[in-house]
Amino acid sequence: MATTTKFRLNPEPPLPSHRLEPLLDEEEIRNRIAELAREVKKSLGEKDPIIVCVLKGAFMFVADLTRQLDFPFSIDFLRASSYGNSVVTSGEVRLELDLQQSISNRHVLIVEDIVDTGLTVKYLQANLETRNPASVSVCTLLHKPANNVKLAPIDYCGFEIPNHFVVGYGLDWQGYYRNLPYIAQVHEIGN
Ligand code: IMP
Repeated sequence: MATTTKFRLNPEPPLPSHRLEPLLDEEEIRNRIAELAREVKKSLGEKDPIIVCVLKGAFMFVADLTRQLDFPFSIDFLRASSYGNSVVTSGEVRLELDLQQSISNRHVLIVEDIVDTGLTVKYLQANLETRNPASVSVCTLLHKPANNVKLAPIDYCGFEIPNHFVVGYGLDWQGYYRNLPYIAQVHEIGN
């Protein structure tokens, strides 16, 4: 297993042989999040929104995004799952943990790590819309447009990326690599 990055995990995770190719570094991510924060403030800064962190992948993005927001809002969490341990979506979304508060008459911002097929975010949006919110908008750090068969509604997007499995900055492969401070493409070696 080779990891072609400056940030090495020692020992390396027990995964099929692979190498990581950095795609977005810490500075690029930080700068883009500052821009996104300005866009979010413009639309939601006076609306006392609820920011919904979609666990687990968005935890790092939400932590950094929300620290850039200097207006009143609350944060809640939900957990959706569509992948299991695979790198390919199972096609079925489940709500594994729900919000702790009512969103009735509130402006809601769903914050996702990545929109791939769009299935998860479409499901979450439809689900939250049934709870009588004032509005529901979507912010994702990453978007793979090649796979987005569901035409998911995205209001704020950090980066469009190629159709390749990525890890880091909250995104995992079988639970590993969420802690990488940057985003990398996974290249499996010799299947
Ligand atoms: P979608 O429903 O296909 O849009 O997938 C959304 C979810 O799949 C995300 O919230 C991630 O948890 C996961 N996912 C999609 N692509 C990747 C990837 O490249 N790396 C890690 N997780 C991914």
